[in-house]
Amino acid sequence: MRIDEIDSVNRTARVGLDVTVENRRQGYGKRCFGLLLRYCFEELNLNMVWLLTASFNEVAQRLYRSLGFQHTGYLPQMLFRGGEYHNVEHFALLRSGWMTQHKNTAPEGV
Ligand SMILES: CC(C)(COP(=O)(O)OP(=O)(O)OC[C@H]1O[C@@H](n2cnc3c(N)ncnc32)[C@H](O)[C@@H]1OP(=O)(O)O)[C@@H](O)C(=O)NCCC(=O)NCCS
Repeated sequence: MRIDEIDSVNRTARVGLDVTVENRRQGYGKRCFGLLLRYCFEELNLNMVWLLTASFNEVAQRLYRSLGFQHTGYLPQMLFRGGEYHNVEHFALLRSGWMTQHKNTAPEGV
């Protein structure tokens, strides 16, 4: 799990996660991301988190959408992999969206 590109003025950060191959598809990704987002919004008090993923990474994109992330754009041909260029997709989750999903458990923002 990682949080970087923290911008304390605008209250944003980039998040990411990798699960080792042998531990995938057991719910760890979703659970860890849930904890990571809770930390971002409740402890770091961020307003928006974002991430980047390769256009061909449909598994990760499905996970992000299931967590409430919105697809917000892409960087054309940002990635050269396997002898060809691929787009890099940009996803974001706003605090307000996360709060709506967790309104019974999360505190109000500042
Ligand atoms: C993306 C990744 C973090 C998901 O972790 P995971 O622990 O396998 O995911 P989970 O078991 O929690 O599954 C969560 C959701 O992801 C999606 N998903 C996970 N594996 C999938 C697969 N093989 N096929 C389709 N969907 C899949 C599903 O929507 C799943 O929810 P569901 O089981 O309710 O359908 C993991 O596959 C990974 O580390 N991949 C390589 C690195 C990577 O792509 N990191 C992200 C870079 S941006």
